[in-house]
Amino acid sequence: MSLILGIESSCDETAAALVTSEREILAHKLAGQEAEHAPYGGVVPEIAARAHAEILTPLITAAMDEAGKSLDDVDAIAATAGPGLIGGVMVGLVTGKALAMAAGKPLIAVNHLEGHALSPRLVNPDLSYPYLLLLVSGGHCQILRVEGVGQYRRLATTIDDAAGEAFDKTAKILGLGYPGGPKVEAIAREGDPEAVPLPRPLIRSAEPHFSFAGLKSAVVRAHKSGAHRPEDLAASFQQAVVDCLRDRLEKAIHDHGRCAHLVVAGGVAANGPIRAMLEQVAEGHDMIFTAPPNWLCTDNAAMIAWAGAERFAAGLTDSLDFVARPRWPL
Ligand code: KG4
Ligand code: ZN
Repeated sequence: MSLILGIESSCDETAAALVTSEREILAHKLAGQEAEHAPYGGVVPEIAARAHAEILTPLITAAMDEAGKSLDDVDAIAATAGPGLIGGVMVGLVTGKALAMAAGKPLIAVNHLEGHALSPRLVNPDLSYPYLLLLVSGGHCQILRVEGVGQYRRLATTIDDAAGEAFDKTAKILGLGYPGGPKVEAIAREGDPEAVPLPRPLIRSAEPHFSFAGLKSAVVRAHKSGAHRPEDLAASFQQAVVDCLRDRLEKAIHDHGRCAHLVVAGGVAANGPIRAMLEQVAEGHDMIFTAPPNWLCTDNAAMIAWAGAERFAAGLTDSLDFVARPRWPL
Protein backbone atom coordinates (compact mmCIF):
# COMPACT_ATOMS: atom_id res chain seq x y z
CA MET A 1 0.00 0.00 0.00
CA SER A 2 1.32 3.48 -0.79
CA LEU A 3 0.47 6.83 0.76
CA ILE A 4 0.28 9.90 -1.46
CA LEU A 5 0.18 13.58 -0.51
CA GLY A 6 -1.89 15.55 -3.01
CA ILE A 7 -1.70 19.31 -3.60
CA GLU A 8 -4.18 21.39 -5.64
CA SER A 9 -3.94 25.11 -6.43
CA SER A 10 -4.86 25.59 -10.09
CA CYS A 11 -7.85 27.88 -9.67
CA ASP A 12 -9.46 29.32 -6.54
CA GLU A 13 -9.36 26.36 -4.15
CA THR A 14 -6.26 25.63 -2.12
CA ALA A 15 -6.25 21.98 -1.09
CA ALA A 16 -4.12 19.23 0.44
CA ALA A 17 -5.02 15.58 0.96
CA LEU A 18 -3.55 12.26 2.04
CA VAL A 19 -4.89 9.25 0.17
CA THR A 20 -3.75 5.64 0.03
CA SER A 21 -3.61 3.31 -2.95
CA GLU A 22 -6.32 1.33 -1.09
CA ARG A 23 -8.75 4.26 -1.56
CA GLU A 24 -8.57 5.45 2.05
CA ILE A 25 -8.87 9.22 2.38
CA LEU A 26 -6.88 9.88 5.55
CA ALA A 27 -7.31 13.65 5.35
CA HIS A 28 -8.56 16.20 2.89
CA LYS A 29 -8.38 19.90 3.54
CA LEU A 30 -9.73 22.68 1.40
CA ALA A 31 -9.74 26.45 1.64
CA GLY A 32 -11.88 28.36 -0.84
CA GLN A 33 -11.24 31.98 -1.80
CA GLU A 34 -14.81 33.01 -2.54
CA ALA A 35 -14.70 36.06 -0.29
CA GLU A 36 -11.51 37.37 -1.93
CA HIS A 37 -12.87 37.09 -5.48
CA ALA A 38 -16.55 37.86 -4.91
CA PRO A 39 -16.18 41.68 -5.20
CA TYR A 40 -14.77 41.19 -8.73
CA GLY A 41 -17.44 38.73 -9.93
CA GLY A 42 -14.84 36.12 -10.88
CA VAL A 43 -11.42 34.72 -10.05
CA VAL A 44 -8.59 37.31 -10.12
CA PRO A 45 -5.39 35.36 -10.94
CA GLU A 46 -3.00 37.54 -8.93
CA ILE A 47 -5.22 37.45 -5.83
CA ALA A 48 -5.58 33.67 -6.22
CA ALA A 49 -1.82 33.10 -6.43
CA ARG A 50 -1.15 35.19 -3.32
CA ALA A 51 -3.90 33.41 -1.38
CA HIS A 52 -2.52 29.98 -2.35
CA ALA A 53 0.95 31.04 -1.20
CA GLU A 54 -0.43 32.09 2.20
CA ILE A 55 -2.71 29.13 2.83
CA LEU A 56 -1.07 26.09 1.27
CA THR A 57 1.67 25.27 3.78
CA PRO A 58 -0.58 25.49 6.88
CA LEU A 59 -3.15 23.40 5.01
CA ILE A 60 -0.62 20.65 4.27
CA THR A 61 0.45 20.67 7.92
CA ALA A 62 -3.19 20.41 9.01
CA ALA A 63 -3.77 17.45 6.67
CA MET A 64 -0.65 15.69 8.01
CA ASP A 65 -1.74 16.31 11.61
CA GLU A 66 -5.26 15.08 10.98
CA ALA A 67 -3.93 11.87 9.42
CA GLY A 68 -1.27 11.50 12.14
CA LYS A 69 1.40 11.17 9.46
CA SER A 70 4.73 12.81 8.72
CA LEU A 71 6.52 13.29 5.41
CA ASP A 72 8.54 10.15 6.18
CA ASP A 73 5.33 8.09 5.91
CA VAL A 74 4.50 9.48 2.47
CA ASP A 75 5.55 7.48 -0.61
CA ALA A 76 5.16 10.25 -3.18
CA ILE A 77 4.04 13.86 -3.52
CA ALA A 78 1.50 14.62 -6.23
CA ALA A 79 0.93 18.25 -7.20
CA THR A 80 -1.24 19.77 -9.91
CA ALA A 81 1.18 21.01 -12.59
CA GLY A 82 -1.48 22.45 -14.94
CA PRO A 83 -3.65 23.39 -16.69
CA GLY A 84 -4.84 26.40 -14.75
CA LEU A 85 -3.99 29.91 -13.61
CA ILE A 86 -0.23 29.77 -13.82
CA GLY A 87 0.59 31.74 -10.64
CA GLY A 88 -1.46 29.36 -8.53
CA VAL A 89 -0.19 26.26 -10.30
CA MET A 90 3.39 27.40 -9.65
CA VAL A 91 2.73 27.86 -5.93
CA GLY A 92 1.45 24.29 -5.61
CA LEU A 93 4.04 22.69 -7.85
CA VAL A 94 6.99 24.51 -6.24
CA THR A 95 5.71 23.54 -2.80
CA GLY A 96 5.41 19.93 -3.95
CA LYS A 97 8.93 20.01 -5.37
CA ALA A 98 10.37 21.50 -2.18
CA LEU A 99 8.73 18.81 -0.02
CA ALA A 100 9.82 16.08 -2.43
CA MET A 101 13.39 17.35 -2.36
CA ALA A 102 13.51 17.83 1.41
CA ALA A 103 12.02 14.39 2.15
CA GLY A 104 13.75 12.57 -0.69
CA LYS A 105 10.42 11.37 -2.12
CA PRO A 106 9.35 11.18 -5.75
CA LEU A 107 7.33 14.00 -7.31
CA ILE A 108 4.29 13.29 -9.46
CA ALA A 109 3.23 16.20 -11.68
CA VAL A 110 -0.51 15.68 -12.14
CA ASN A 111 -2.65 17.07 -14.92
CA HIS A 112 -5.64 18.65 -13.16
CA LEU A 113 -7.95 17.15 -15.80
CA GLU A 114 -6.54 13.71 -15.10
CA GLY A 115 -7.39 14.34 -11.44
CA HIS A 116 -11.04 14.95 -12.39
CA ALA A 117 -11.03 12.07 -14.89
CA LEU A 118 -9.78 9.44 -12.42
CA SER A 119 -11.60 10.81 -9.32
CA PRO A 120 -14.63 8.51 -9.74
CA ARG A 121 -12.32 5.50 -9.30
CA LEU A 122 -11.34 6.77 -5.85
CA VAL A 123 -14.87 6.16 -4.57
CA ASN A 124 -15.91 3.31 -6.86
CA PRO A 125 -13.60 0.26 -6.87
CA ASP A 126 -15.85 -1.40 -9.46
CA LEU A 127 -15.25 1.31 -12.03
CA SER A 128 -12.87 -0.37 -14.44
CA TYR A 129 -11.37 0.90 -17.69
CA PRO A 130 -12.50 1.83 -20.27
CA TYR A 131 -15.27 4.25 -19.33
CA LEU A 132 -17.00 7.12 -21.03
CA LEU A 133 -16.48 10.38 -19.15
CA LEU A 134 -18.25 13.70 -19.37
CA LEU A 135 -15.84 16.21 -17.84
CA VAL A 136 -17.71 19.43 -17.15
CA SER A 137 -16.02 22.15 -15.12
CA GLY A 138 -15.46 25.90 -15.09
CA GLY A 139 -12.63 25.60 -17.58
CA HIS A 140 -13.48 22.46 -19.57
CA CYS A 141 -16.26 20.62 -21.30
CA GLN A 142 -15.12 17.37 -22.83
CA ILE A 143 -16.21 13.84 -23.57
CA LEU A 144 -13.37 11.40 -23.00
CA ARG A 145 -12.91 7.70 -23.38
CA VAL A 146 -10.75 6.84 -20.37
CA GLU A 147 -8.81 3.73 -21.37
CA GLY A 148 -6.21 3.61 -18.59
CA VAL A 149 -3.85 5.79 -16.56
CA GLY A 150 -2.48 8.34 -19.03
CA GLN A 151 -4.62 6.92 -21.84
CA TYR A 152 -7.40 9.30 -22.78
CA ARG A 153 -9.18 9.63 -26.11
CA ARG A 154 -10.85 12.98 -26.43
CA LEU A 155 -14.07 12.53 -28.39
CA ALA A 156 -15.39 16.09 -28.02
CA THR A 157 -14.47 19.44 -26.53
CA THR A 158 -15.88 22.96 -26.48
CA ILE A 159 -15.05 25.32 -29.34
CA ASP A 160 -15.59 28.36 -27.09
CA ASP A 161 -16.83 28.47 -23.46
CA ALA A 162 -16.95 25.64 -20.94
CA ALA A 163 -20.32 24.66 -19.45
CA GLY A 164 -19.36 25.94 -15.98
CA GLU A 165 -18.20 29.23 -17.49
CA ALA A 166 -21.66 29.59 -19.08
CA PHE A 167 -23.26 28.98 -15.66
CA ASP A 168 -20.95 31.56 -14.07
CA LYS A 169 -21.65 34.14 -16.77
CA THR A 170 -25.40 33.59 -16.55
CA ALA A 171 -25.18 34.11 -12.79
CA LYS A 172 -23.28 37.34 -13.35
CA ILE A 173 -25.84 38.58 -15.90
CA LEU A 174 -28.66 37.79 -13.48
CA GLY A 175 -26.78 39.51 -10.63
CA LEU A 176 -26.56 36.32 -8.56
CA GLY A 177 -22.86 36.69 -7.77
CA TYR A 178 -19.96 34.29 -7.83
CA PRO A 179 -19.54 31.29 -7.99
CA GLY A 180 -22.54 31.05 -10.21
CA GLY A 181 -23.37 27.40 -10.89
CA PRO A 182 -25.07 26.52 -7.60
CA LYS A 183 -26.89 29.89 -7.53
CA VAL A 184 -28.32 29.43 -11.03
CA GLU A 185 -29.40 25.91 -10.11
CA ALA A 186 -31.07 27.16 -6.92
CA ILE A 187 -33.20 29.89 -8.54
CA ALA A 188 -33.92 27.66 -11.57
CA ARG A 189 -35.96 25.47 -9.20
CA GLU A 190 -38.51 28.29 -8.97
CA GLY A 191 -38.60 28.87 -12.75
CA ASP A 192 -40.14 27.44 -15.91
CA PRO A 193 -37.53 25.78 -18.17
CA GLU A 194 -39.71 26.43 -21.22
CA ALA A 195 -40.48 30.08 -20.52
CA VAL A 196 -37.62 31.63 -22.50
CA PRO A 197 -36.74 30.38 -26.00
CA LEU A 198 -32.95 29.95 -26.07
CA PRO A 199 -30.65 28.37 -28.69
CA ARG A 200 -28.98 24.96 -28.33
CA PRO A 201 -25.68 25.61 -30.18
CA LEU A 202 -24.33 22.73 -32.32
CA ILE A 203 -27.19 20.45 -31.38
CA ARG A 204 -27.61 17.67 -34.00
CA SER A 205 -24.44 18.98 -35.71
CA ALA A 206 -22.32 16.47 -37.65
CA GLU A 207 -19.23 17.58 -35.74
CA PRO A 208 -18.85 16.23 -32.21
CA HIS A 209 -18.10 19.40 -30.24
CA PHE A 210 -19.82 21.69 -27.73
CA SER A 211 -20.43 25.42 -27.96
CA PHE A 212 -21.93 27.68 -25.30
CA ALA A 213 -20.97 31.24 -26.41
CA GLY A 214 -24.17 31.73 -28.46
CA LEU A 215 -26.29 30.56 -25.55
CA LYS A 216 -24.64 33.08 -23.26
CA SER A 217 -25.26 35.94 -25.75
CA ALA A 218 -28.90 34.86 -25.99
CA VAL A 219 -29.19 35.00 -22.19
CA VAL A 220 -27.76 38.54 -22.27
CA ARG A 221 -30.33 39.61 -24.90
CA ALA A 222 -33.23 37.96 -23.10
CA HIS A 223 -32.21 39.62 -19.84
CA LYS A 224 -31.88 43.05 -21.47
CA SER A 225 -35.36 42.74 -22.96
CA GLY A 226 -36.70 42.88 -19.41
CA ALA A 227 -39.47 40.50 -20.43
CA HIS A 228 -38.49 37.54 -18.24
CA ARG A 229 -38.26 36.63 -14.58
CA PRO A 230 -34.68 35.72 -13.53
CA GLU A 231 -36.01 32.36 -12.29
CA ASP A 232 -37.42 31.56 -15.74
CA LEU A 233 -34.24 32.68 -17.48
CA ALA A 234 -32.12 30.55 -15.16
CA ALA A 235 -34.36 27.49 -15.64
CA SER A 236 -34.47 27.94 -19.43
CA PHE A 237 -30.69 28.40 -19.58
CA GLN A 238 -30.10 25.30 -17.47
CA GLN A 239 -32.47 23.29 -19.67
CA ALA A 240 -30.57 24.44 -22.79
CA VAL A 241 -27.28 23.24 -21.23
CA VAL A 242 -28.89 19.89 -20.31
CA ASP A 243 -30.16 19.50 -23.90
CA CYS A 244 -26.73 20.35 -25.41
CA LEU A 245 -24.90 17.94 -23.11
CA ARG A 246 -27.40 15.16 -23.81
CA ASP A 247 -27.23 15.62 -27.59
CA ARG A 248 -23.43 15.61 -27.75
CA LEU A 249 -23.19 12.62 -25.44
CA GLU A 250 -25.70 10.66 -27.51
CA LYS A 251 -23.65 11.48 -30.59
CA ALA A 252 -20.41 10.32 -28.95
CA ILE A 253 -22.06 7.03 -27.96
CA HIS A 254 -23.51 6.66 -31.46
CA ASP A 255 -20.17 7.39 -33.18
CA HIS A 256 -17.77 5.58 -30.84
CA GLY A 257 -19.89 2.96 -29.12
CA ARG A 258 -20.90 2.57 -25.50
CA CYS A 259 -18.76 1.56 -22.51
CA ALA A 260 -19.94 -0.40 -19.48
CA HIS A 261 -19.83 2.82 -17.42
CA LEU A 262 -20.90 6.41 -17.99
CA VAL A 263 -19.13 8.74 -15.59
CA VAL A 264 -19.41 12.44 -14.87
CA ALA A 265 -16.72 14.59 -13.22
CA GLY A 266 -15.87 18.28 -12.75
CA GLY A 267 -17.65 21.01 -10.82
CA VAL A 268 -20.76 21.13 -13.03
CA ALA A 269 -21.37 17.45 -12.21
CA ALA A 270 -22.81 18.77 -8.92
CA ASN A 271 -25.85 19.99 -10.89
CA GLY A 272 -28.99 17.96 -10.14
CA PRO A 273 -30.82 18.22 -13.50
CA ILE A 274 -27.57 17.41 -15.36
CA ARG A 275 -27.08 14.31 -13.22
CA ALA A 276 -30.70 13.27 -13.77
CA MET A 277 -30.26 13.59 -17.56
CA LEU A 278 -27.04 11.54 -17.43
CA GLU A 279 -28.83 8.80 -15.49
CA GLN A 280 -31.41 8.62 -18.28
CA VAL A 281 -28.78 8.50 -21.01
CA ALA A 282 -26.94 5.72 -19.17
CA GLU A 283 -30.14 3.76 -18.69
CA GLY A 284 -30.99 4.11 -22.38
CA HIS A 285 -27.70 2.48 -23.36
CA ASP A 286 -27.58 -0.06 -20.56
CA MET A 287 -24.59 1.69 -19.01
CA ILE A 288 -23.86 1.98 -15.28
CA PHE A 289 -23.88 5.63 -14.22
CA THR A 290 -21.28 6.83 -11.72
CA ALA A 291 -21.22 10.32 -10.26
CA PRO A 292 -18.75 11.08 -7.48
CA PRO A 293 -20.11 12.93 -4.41
CA ASN A 294 -20.28 16.69 -4.91
CA TRP A 295 -17.22 17.45 -2.80
CA LEU A 296 -15.16 15.24 -5.13
CA CYS A 297 -16.65 16.84 -8.28
CA THR A 298 -15.48 20.35 -7.49
CA ASP A 299 -11.76 21.06 -7.20
CA ASN A 300 -10.04 19.23 -4.35
CA ALA A 301 -6.72 17.59 -3.53
CA ALA A 302 -8.03 14.06 -2.91
CA MET A 303 -8.48 13.64 -6.66
CA ILE A 304 -4.92 14.83 -7.25
CA ALA A 305 -3.57 12.44 -4.60
CA TRP A 306 -5.60 9.61 -6.18
CA ALA A 307 -4.33 10.38 -9.71
CA GLY A 308 -0.88 10.40 -8.07
CA ALA A 309 -1.58 6.97 -6.54
CA GLU A 310 -2.62 5.57 -9.92
CA ARG A 311 0.46 7.05 -11.63
CA PHE A 312 2.74 5.87 -8.82
CA ALA A 313 1.39 2.33 -9.15
CA ALA A 314 2.13 2.51 -12.88
CA GLY A 315 5.72 3.63 -12.17
CA LEU A 316 5.10 7.14 -13.49
CA THR A 317 7.01 9.77 -11.52
CA ASP A 318 8.43 13.10 -12.69
CA SER A 319 11.67 15.00 -12.43
CA LEU A 320 12.04 18.02 -10.15
CA ASP A 321 12.52 20.29 -13.16
CA PHE A 322 8.99 19.64 -14.45
CA VAL A 323 7.67 23.01 -15.66
CA ALA A 324 4.17 24.24 -14.71
CA ARG A 325 1.83 24.37 -17.72
CA PRO A 326 -0.97 26.93 -18.09
CA ARG A 327 -2.37 24.83 -20.97
CA TRP A 328 -2.15 21.08 -20.95
CA PRO A 329 -4.69 19.07 -22.91
CA LEU A 330 -5.17 15.51 -21.71
O1 KG4 B 1 -14.13 21.61 -11.34
P1 KG4 B 1 -14.32 22.96 -10.77
O2 KG4 B 1 -14.44 23.09 -9.27
O3 KG4 B 1 -13.20 23.93 -11.22
C1 KG4 B 1 -12.62 23.89 -12.49
O4 KG4 B 1 -11.67 23.08 -12.68
O5 KG4 B 1 -13.13 24.63 -13.34
O6 KG4 B 1 -15.63 23.56 -11.44
C2 KG4 B 1 -16.12 24.82 -11.07
C3 KG4 B 1 -17.31 25.10 -11.95
C4 KG4 B 1 -17.81 26.54 -11.83
O7 KG4 B 1 -18.02 27.07 -13.12
C5 KG4 B 1 -19.13 26.40 -11.07
O8 KG4 B 1 -20.06 27.41 -11.37
C6 KG4 B 1 -19.60 25.05 -11.57
O9 KG4 B 1 -18.42 24.26 -11.60
N1 KG4 B 1 -20.59 24.45 -10.67
C7 KG4 B 1 -21.88 24.23 -11.03
C8 KG4 B 1 -22.53 23.72 -9.88
N2 KG4 B 1 -21.61 23.65 -8.86
C9 KG4 B 1 -20.43 24.10 -9.38
N3 KG4 B 1 -22.51 24.41 -12.19
C10 KG4 B 1 -23.82 24.09 -12.24
N4 KG4 B 1 -24.51 23.62 -11.18
C11 KG4 B 1 -23.91 23.41 -9.98
N5 KG4 B 1 -24.61 22.96 -8.94
ZN1 ZN C 1 -11.31 21.47 -11.84
